[in-house]
Amino acid sequence: METLEKKSVAEDPILEEAFMTRLLNGEKIEPKEWMPENYRKQLTRMMSQHAHSEVIGMQPEANWITRAPSLLRKVILLAKIQDEGGHGLYLYGSTETLGTDRSELIEQLHEGKAKYSSVFNYPTLNWADIGAIGWLVDGAAIVNQTMLAKTSYGPYSRAMLRICKEEGFHNRQGYDLMIAMMRGTKEQQEMAQDAMNRWWWPALMMFGPHDKNSSNTIELMKYRIKLESNDDLRQQFIDRTIPQAEIIGLTIPDPNLKFNKETGHYETSDINWDEFFNVIRGKGPCNKQRMHNHIQAHEEGKWVREAAEAYASKHKQL
Ligand code: 3HC
Repeated sequence: METLEKKSVAEDPILEEAFMTRLLNGEKIEPKEWMPENYRKQLTRMMSQHAHSEVIGMQPEANWITRAPSLLRKVILLAKIQDEGGHGLYLYGSTETLGTDRSELIEQLHEGKAKYSSVFNYPTLNWADIGAIGWLVDGAAIVNQTMLAKTSYGPYSRAMLRICKEEGFHNRQGYDLMIAMMRGTKEQQEMAQDAMNRWWWPALMMFGPHDKNSSNTIELMKYRIKLESNDDLRQQFIDRTIPQAEIIGLTIPDPNLKFNKETGHYETSDINWDEFFNVIRGKGPCNKQRMHNHIQAHEEGKWVREAAEAYASKHKQL
């Protein structure tokens, strides 16, 4: 396929048709190949926000590294958090193939022009939260990212394949931690149930608004960036997670929960969408703290970026 520079403003209908045929044939689109500007824009939006989420998602768990109950749990948590930082780097690197430098992407985040996942704006109050995050948050991420591994954009798909392998470890270690607490003292069981109560709904919110209220889903699915809808993915997560909770004695914090034998799916209460939109508008419990920490770390790391750039430019001249 000849490589074509980015077309000028007006899209070329013939190129668009050829592009859509490639998608229908299940082909992967690579960085230097022609793509509609909206395809590029949607991917840059989604992938950069995914990268922001991975990096900011390190904060809630990092609070508990020094307070892990054993050396083994500390090592596991350290490994997981380091993985998340690496996921962020893969995703910034993949996003940059679309033509926007990560410095600009991070500026958009700091200026409130870009989002990160709502779920990371909730506090981690005790050790059980670390289990709930690994089991529920990474469990939700696996459902979403397994779908994204089939996305039409080559670099994003390949990043997802790599990331999903590590998510499996994240999810298992979280569930293992919850099992240990549910086999523990009454107080530990109460802590685990309290964490379940606080993280269940924010995990369901990770999949975004209902399909009918999702402003991006139609275009994302037209371009085979997203292959399943927010509600379908959320339902998959609900159906696989509830049996895991029940088997270790945890209760789902939803009085209306019921299993529909005809559909084979669980039916839940509706999500508190006021809470969801409040959080993504910056009014969640930890939004300010997360952004403050991210900006501070970015400023304190300026000298590292400058040193790396100086080294790179010196070696380019040689
Ligand atoms: N948190 C923050 N913003 C959200 C959101 C959430 N949970 N769900 C939706 N939104 C935002 C969207 O970004 C969009 O705003 P924008 O147009 O300004 O970007 C708006 O709400 C409307 O939502 P849509 O449904 O139209 O948006 P999408 O179709 O893009 O769906 C998404 C949202 C499901 C997050 C989708 O973008 C996606 O799958 N992104 C890639 C995966 C990702 O980013 N996951 C975040 C978690 S990372 C993680 O879990 C790391 C793991 O290691 C723990």
